Amino acid sequence: MREEIARAVAALRAGELVAFPTETVYGLGADALDPVAVAKIFAAKRRPAGHPLIVHLPAPGDLARWAARVPEEAMRLAQAFWPGPLTLILERAHGIPDIVTGGQHTVGLRVPDHPLALALLAAFGSGIAAPSANRHGRISPTTAQHVREELGDAVALILDGGACRIGIESTIVDCSRGSPAILRPGAIAAGRIAAVLGVDPIEGASGAAPRVPGALPAHYAPRTPLRLVQPEALSADISACIARHLRVAVLAREATVAMHSGVILRRAPGDASGYARDLYAQLRALDALGLDAIVVEAPPATPEWRAIDDRLARAAAGAPAPDAP
Ligand code: TXA
Ligand code: MG
Repeated sequence: MREEIARAVAALRAGELVAFPTETVYGLGADALDPVAVAKIFAAKRRPAGHPLIVHLPAPGDLARWAARVPEEAMRLAQAFWPGPLTLILERAHGIPDIVTGGQHTVGLRVPDHPLALALLAAFGSGIAAPSANRHGRISPTTAQHVREELGDAVALILDGGACRIGIESTIVDCSRGSPAILRPGAIAAGRIAAVLGVDPIEGASGAAPRVPGALPAHYAPRTPLRLVQPEALSADISACIARHLRVAVLAREATVAMHSGVILRRAPGDASGYARDLYAQLRALDALGLDAIVVEAPPATPEWRAIDDRLARAAAGAPAPDAP
């Protein structure tokens, strides 16, 4: 793997793209200080210009080089959660290209908690700008194979670190404008942020909010129509689909629904972290079946399921209009 890292560093220095695993999802990386290289990320993802990227840093100590000002709250959050699935939005330092920040005066920063990502960052010795390694608006990749399927030739090299441990994207906390605000719920629940800060963070952003494509109503979406159905309505919903001869797959937690013939039933783990870890691979596999609909049992309305509920709601909003029973 040392040789792989050396090749990846050489590719980054040559202005090429390198996909790499993090604990959340796979990232599509470029040298954050090379605007021409970063432009290749937008081309590969077909991501609209103006959407800012997260800069991945080798260590928490690099924070001061990439942010103009590090408020006390940001310092405490970085200490508590880095390396880890937390992105901090801070005032940008001089010298960060506009293409990375979407021309905004802030920058997203994170130190990922994955041995390959950390080895790559340490060997590269600078920031790597990396969004999730999927086409814009689609499901984030949690294995190297997902990246290959989706981006293939656009990437010089894919570091294979196996399946991602967490499976959904980092929590984004904006510390650039007074009271910290959660811009994207993620692997670290709001309660853990509150415990460190001593106050509840705001969820969502004000009117003067920065642009967050992951916060568009439609995102993380499969091509098959996807619907969220409350557990108690699931059986009736499935029966109605069968009556209409719709080919459906159901993603349900534990044993909440009985088997129905003619329906593909996939079980998801009953705990939030297990569910998050498998979620995107499950959605990809179900999408690949080319059915008429994917029916997902709605997750519980509790804080630990918040980020999963967020991603499922966006998947439902982004999928083609459902042919509901
Ligand atoms: O877990 C993750 O965060 C993964 C891994 C690869 O680190 N990355 C990821 O990147 O999810 P991406 O580009 O798919 O989502 C990054 C989000 C976007 O919604 C973007 O708008 C937001 O971070 N973001 C980046 N910089 C920002 C800024 N200056 N202000 C507001 N939002 C920002
Ligand atoms: Mg993304």
